[in-house]
Amino acid sequence: MADTLFDFIEHLQGEQPWGRVLDAGTGSHSLAWIESLATDGWVAVTGDPREGRRLEGRHPDGRMVVGNWTDEALLAGERFETVIADYLLGAVEGFAPSFQTRLFERLRPHVGGMLYAVGLAPYEPGPETPAGRVVRRIARLRDACILLGGGRCYREYPIDWVRHALERSGYEIVEARSFPIRYGADFVGQQLRVGMRYLPSVENRGLARALAREIGRMRREATAFARANGGLAFGEDWIVAARPTGRSADPTSS
Ligand SMILES: C[S@@+](CC[C@H](N)C(=O)[O-])C[C@H]1O[C@@H](n2cnc3c(N)ncnc32)[C@H](O)[C@@H]1O
Repeated sequence: MADTLFDFIEHLQGEQPWGRVLDAGTGSHSLAWIESLATDGWVAVTGDPREGRRLEGRHPDGRMVVGNWTDEALLAGERFETVIADYLLGAVEGFAPSFQTRLFERLRPHVGGMLYAVGLAPYEPGPETPAGRVVRRIARLRDACILLGGGRCYREYPIDWVRHALERSGYEIVEARSFPIRYGADFVGQQLRVGMRYLPSVENRGLARALAREIGRMRREATAFARANGGLAFGEDWIVAARPTGRSADPTSS
């Protein structure tokens, strides 16, 4: 599967067997990748029952679990050689606000070998480049719609925060790397559609109509900008690989 971040994780894993894999914040993308690996089976967790139903059954080789990492009973006693936390940290705000500082500690008993955390660096503050201005305007409009519609926005964290959080939670860092992003023109529509979904819940209907018009205008302008500039080069994703301290480096020996 062609994906820079998953390719890098495969590179870090090298010849080590994947063993049993936990997809600690699942979705179509991470699950399709995990299914393409030579694992000894997998368990995938989502906090969203609709997402769980959508993914369940389509993947007979693994187990889909709907639950919340705030629940201490979730996967109690289960250990995995490899744990993937793919864009989980940023999404925690939507499912367990303020739990971010405890997330890695909560996952630790389940990590037999390696934890691979993947995430997006916050857009703010960011460089005032033309592409940066476009991406941040899209994100602000999307988040304004989410908030006015009564939803909760994702909250992203920088790589240094993640490193420190992991170290404080009993892990040693094996690798930490940032990857510059170049969004394609399809990013514009995807993000603005997220905002659109919240407009029916905005109480002030005049404001909702104004937001819909603004979304239309933004879609046209930003798509044209992205097409003319070969995408939107802005922001960074990060990967931090870490293993629990005081345990063997060999995931197969857990
Ligand atoms: C942005 S999605 C992850 C993207 C996914 N890896 C993919 O490939 O599309 C975040 C996932 O983390 C889950 N999640 C967020 N907070 C959670 C929590 N506190 N407990 C359990 N799952 C949570 C969400 O339900 C969702 O499945």
